Amino acid sequence: MPLRCPQLSPAVKMHFFARILLAGLAAAVQAQWQHVSDAEFHSLVDSNDLLLAAFVAPWTGPCKSLASEWAATKSQLTYPAVSIDCTANQTLCSAHNVHSYPAIRLFRGPHEWVRYRGPRKASAIVPFVRRASLPVVSEVNIKNITALTGIDRVTFVAYLKEDDHSMRSRFTKVAETFRDQFVFGISNDKRLAEKENIAFPSIIAYRTDVGDQEVLQGTVTRSVIGKFILEAGKPLIDELTRRNEIDYMSSHKLLAYIFVADDADRTLFRRKLHPVAKQYKDYVNFVTIDGDEYGHMAASLGLHRGHYPSFTVYSAWKDQVFPYPAVKRIEADNIEAFLLEILHGERAPWSPSGTVQGQHDEL
Ligand SMILES: *[C@@H]1O[C@H](CO)[C@@H](O)[C@H](O)[C@H]1NC(C)=O
Ligand SMILES: *[C@@H]1O[C@H](CO)[C@@H](O)[C@H](O)[C@H]1NC(C)=O
Repeated sequence: MPLRCPQLSPAVKMHFFARILLAGLAAAVQAQWQHVSDAEFHSLVDSNDLLLAAFVAPWTGPCKSLASEWAATKSQLTYPAVSIDCTANQTLCSAHNVHSYPAIRLFRGPHEWVRYRGPRKASAIVPFVRRASLPVVSEVNIKNITALTGIDRVTFVAYLKEDDHSMRSRFTKVAETFRDQFVFGISNDKRLAEKENIAFPSIIAYRTDVGDQEVLQGTVTRSVIGKFILEAGKPLIDELTRRNEIDYMSSHKLLAYIFVADDADRTLFRRKLHPVAKQYKDYVNFVTIDGDEYGHMAASLGLHRGHYPSFTVYSAWKDQVFPYPAVKRIEADNIEAFLLEILHGERAPWSPSGTVQGQHDEL
C-alpha cells in the first residue's frame, strides 16, 4: 500500500518530508519456505492446541522478507508454525478469506483463530505465540513471579486479597481483551506485595525490557484498568514502521530517531534512553529505526549512512532537522542536554547542503 502524506499545515515546507518517509524496503536475503499442503494443514490444526500459520504469495516483497523471520520463528517455538502458498492452491486461502499477503494467524483448533498484526519479525511473533499459550491470567507468588515477567516485554500483575472477587473479575475481563498483547498475572502473596512496596489492591505494570514499572493503586473500574494497560503497555520508544509513521509525522511533538544496526542495539538504546523519553514524553516521541532497511533516510536526516548507532531529531511541524553530533556518545544525559537546546530554540537546524544555518556546528 502506498504511503500517503498526513494532513499537515500548509505552512510546513515539504522538502525533507518527502525524503524521510520509509519508502523502499530493501529486499531481504531470501530463505527457503517449506509450505504445507491443505491436508497437512488440516491434520496439524486438528492435533495441536495452537498452530501458527502464514498464508503467503511467495514472490511478493513482504513475503520474501518474512521468509527468514519465519524460519527463525519456527525454530524457537514449541508449537508448529506452518506456511501455505496461496498461489499454488487457492482453496485453503479462500476458505480462510485471505486477501492480502502475508496473513499471519494463530489457530486454536480449526474454527478459532486470531490475526497477528505486529512486526513481521521473529522477535515479535515468538512472544505473541508464547502469550497465547498462557492462561488469560496466571497465579504468581514471590517464588515464581520472575518466570512470568521474563516471558515478554510487559507483564501486568494484579495484587488482590483472596476474597476481592470484584477486582479479580474486572481485571480478568480486561486481560481477556488484551491477552494478544500482554502477559497477565494475579497474586495474593503478602510477602511479594511487601517487597514491591504496594498495598492491596494494586496493579503493577512490569516493563522488563526497560527495567521500569508503573503502578495503579486502589479499587478501580474496568475502564480505568483498560486505560492503564494501554498507557503503560505502549512502548515509550517504539520501532518506526510504515504503519505508525503517519501518527508520528502528524504529531506536534519532535521526533527523535535512533538509527540502529541490529536488535541488540535497539534493546540497548531503548533501555538507555528510556528515562529521557519518559521525562520529555509530552514534547518528544522517540523511535528506533533499522539502519540497514532504511539507511537511505539517514542522509536526509543529517546523518552518515552506515554509521550506527546514530541519533537525530526531526520537527515535522517546522520541517527542521537536528542531527546529533556523530562524535558524541549517545548517553541519556548528553541526549537530554541536546533536546533541551532544541526545545529552547538554542540550536540551529541543519540544512541539506551540509551547512548549519546561523551557527557553526561540529558536524
Ligand atoms: C487444491 O486443494 C484441494 C483440497 O483442499 C483439492 O481438492 C484440489 O484438488 C487442489 N487443487 C489443485 C490444483 O491442486
Ligand atoms: C506459581 O506457584 C503457584 C503455587 O505453587 C502455582 O499455583 C502457580 O501456577 C505458579 N505460577 C507460575 C507462573 O508458574
